[in-house]
Amino acid sequence: MRITMSATIRSLFFWLVTLHGLAANGAEVDFAHDVVPLLKQQCSKCHGGSQKKGGYSINVRESLLAGGESGVAVVVGQSKQSELYQRITSSDDSLRMPPEGEPLTARQFELLARWIDEGATWEAGFSFGPRL
Ligand code: HEC
Repeated sequence: MRITMSATIRSLFFWLVTLHGLAANGAEVDFAHDVVPLLKQQCSKCHGGSQKKGGYSINVRESLLAGGESGVAVVVGQSKQSELYQRITSSDDSLRMPPEGEPLTARQFELLARWIDEGATWEAGFSFGPRL
C-alpha cells in the first residue's frame, strides 16, 4: 500500500511539474514583471523620463507606439514590422538599440516580440515619466 501511494504521489508530482511548465510557456508576457524592467534597464536612459533621443519617448504606451523622428515604432500585433523590434535585432551597429553596450539577448528579442504580437498591453496608469 505504502509503495503504491508513493508511486501515485510521484506521478502526480511529475504531472504537476509538467503542467506548470506548459502553463509557463503558454502564458502571456507579463508587462509589469517582464517588459517594464527590460525597457527600464535598457532603454529608459535615452527614451524615458525627460529623455527623448531621436524624438522618441517610451514614457506612455501612446508615445512608445507612435515612435519618434522616423515614425511609428510599434505596429501592434506585428513585431517583425515594428521598428522597435527591427532596431533591437539589427546587425547594423549604426541602427541597433541600445546603441552602446551589449545587444539584447535572444530571449529578450523573443520577449518583446511576443509582447508586441500579443497586443503590447500596458498597465493602466503606468508610465516611465510624463507624456512629452
Ligand atoms: C544611449 C542612448 C540610447 C539607448 C540606451 C537606447 N536608445 Fe534608442 N535611440 C537613441 C538615439 C540617439 C536615437 C536617434 C538616432 C537613431 O535613430 O538611431 C534612438 C532612436 C531609437 C528609435 C527610432 C526612433 C525614431 O522614430 O526615429 C527607436 C525605435 C529606439 N531608439 C528604440 C530603443 C529601444 C527599444 C531601446 C532599448 C532596448 C533603446 N532605443 C535604447 C539612443 C538610445
